[in-house]
Amino acid sequence: MLKKLKSIPEQVIRLAVILVIIVVVFVIVRAELVPDDFGELGHYRKGAVDEIASLELKYAGQETCEMCHDDILETKSNGYHRSVNCEVCHGPSAKHSEAPDEFLPSAPRKRDFCPVCHEYLPSRPTGFPQIVSASHNPVKPCITCHEPHNPVPPETPHECSACHAEISRVKSISHHAYLECKTCHEVPEQHKLDPRGNAASKPATREFCGKCHAEENEDYPGVPQIDLAEHEPRYVCWQCHYPHMPEAK
Ligand code: HEC
Ligand code: HEC
Ligand code: HEC
Ligand code: HEC
Ligand code: HEC
Ligand code: HEC
Ligand code: HEC
Ligand code: HEC
Repeated sequence: MLKKLKSIPEQVIRLAVILVIIVVVFVIVRAELVPDDFGELGHYRKGAVDEIASLELKYAGQETCEMCHDDILETKSNGYHRSVNCEVCHGPSAKHSEAPDEFLPSAPRKRDFCPVCHEYLPSRPTGFPQIVSASHNPVKPCITCHEPHNPVPPETPHECSACHAEISRVKSISHHAYLECKTCHEVPEQHKLDPRGNAASKPATREFCGKCHAEENEDYPGVPQIDLAEHEPRYVCWQCHYPHMPEAK
């Protein structure tokens, strides 16, 4: 008998001992430590249901705010923040909803709050509005420029020159100084917010420049004229004349 035992490899015996310990511990835990009402209704403690139900409510839910702040809810539900619930920003407000005079929720007025969602992160979906807060209008709180309940991105100042500074500077001292950019480019309003998603158009044909230069032009009298059929007909005009600084010499 003992001989037989000795012939079993040592590691198998150790495994067997561990197995026995596990079984014993399992039996003890099952019998002594699992609460009595566990498993009566399912794989959970029956008593837990009442315990959870008796916890104090902290979040009231957005529908509750509507009772007293319907104007704000209305503003928000038509704006970019429609999917962000009130209590995401104002914190749990159940107590406030029951006794508004006694408890006031906080309002996140400081600059460090909004970047929680809007700071640039490569892992955020492209298209989600993101900023680099270190360089995006630093110092001032975000809400000086953005209304938190309806954050419409404000208009970029200075029309085109805000971004196309060099072109506007060059054009402003050229023969085309008095032509607005939109004389030659159709620019969707959204181009100023999302330039790549909303491209501006560019002139495509010789006839476009010919509108002014091939015939007498009432709006711009004295425009130097060319014969469209004769003047270098094999090329488009801007292969020779930079449109933002056209030279004839
Ligand atoms: C029963 C009415 C009532 C309900 C419901 C209610 N509020 Fe108010 N709330 C008030 C009143 C009244 C004030 C104004 C107190 C004051 O002007 O001092 C107020 C003020 C506030 C303020 C301003 C705090 C500040 O610093 O100026 C915030 C934020 C606010 N409520 C958020 C909420 C949110 C979020 C909800 C929904 C979860 C909500 N309220 C639900 C009545 C209510
Ligand atoms: C994106 C975050 C955000 C969300 C979402 C939000 N708020 Fe606010 N709320 C603010 C900030 C920031 C202020 C402080 C504005 C200020 O001082 O000019 C504020 C101010 C308030 C005030 C004070 C009065 C006022 O108009 O300045 C009330 C009341 C209020 N919020 C209620 C609500 C309610 C109700 C909702 C949901 C319908 C809501 N808020 C959703 C950020 C938010
Ligand atoms: C819980 C996340 C969250 C917080 C906090 C938050 N926002 Fe937003 N914000 C959003 C979402 C979601 C949108 C809508 C994005 C969309 O339409 O694709 C949005 C849109 C915006 C836009 C519109 C930009 C555009 O061009 O589309 C601005 C501006 C903005 N938020 C400013 C703020 C400011 C200021 C605060 C702080 C008071 C703030 N946000 C806090 C989630 C958040
Ligand atoms: C001095 C005014 C000012 C302040 C302060 C400011 N912004 Fe802006 N924000 C703008 C203007 C103007 C635009 C639109 C033009 C642009 O993209 O620069 C804008 C655009 C945005 C956009 C849209 C970007 C996109 O790609 O669609 C978001 C999001 C935004 N701001 C969030 C914030 C947050 C968050 C803060 C605070 C950390 C903040 N802003 C502070 C003026 C401001
Ligand atoms: C917020 C900054 C911004 C403003 C404001 C802006 N643009 Fe642009 N624009 C850009 C950027 C960035 C590009 C480059 C887009 C790309 O590479 O696809 C561009 C490209 C262009 C192009 C070239 C399109 C192409 O196919 O090569 C034209 C034309 C143009 N913009 C005209 C204008 C005019 C005219 C205005 C004023 C009404 C204007 N832009 C205002 C940022 C801006
Ligand atoms: C007389 C017509 C005309 C006017 C006015 C004009 N552009 Fe252009 N622009 C063009 C043409 C034509 C092209 C195409 C050039 C090419 O493809 O080489 C162009 C190209 C561009 C481009 C593409 C990049 C580049 O340098 O080729 C941008 C950006 C641009 N224009 C912006 C502007 C802005 C901003 C203004 C106003 C300050 C303006 N344009 C005024 C005719 C014009
Ligand atoms: C809306 C009318 C208009 C359009 C379109 C227009 N131009 Fe002009 N252009 C003018 C005017 C006006 C002048 C002369 C301004 C002056 O008195 O110096 C001018 C001057 C010129 C000159 C003469 C410069 C010199 O040295 O005398 C050239 C070259 C020129 N434009 C090329 C172009 C080209 C290329 C296009 C197309 C991309 C174009 N223009 C589109 C109105 C226009
Ligand atoms: C192959 C190059 C080339 C092309 C393409 C070209 N031009 Fe010119 N253009 C010139 C040169 C060089 C001059 C100056 C010498 C001359 O008058 O022939 C000039 C002169 C002009 C002048 C001044 C005429 C005057 O009497 O002062 C205008 C206006 C003009 N071009 C417009 C255009 C327009 C519009 C187009 C497109 C339909 C165009 N050019 C295409 C090279 C070109």
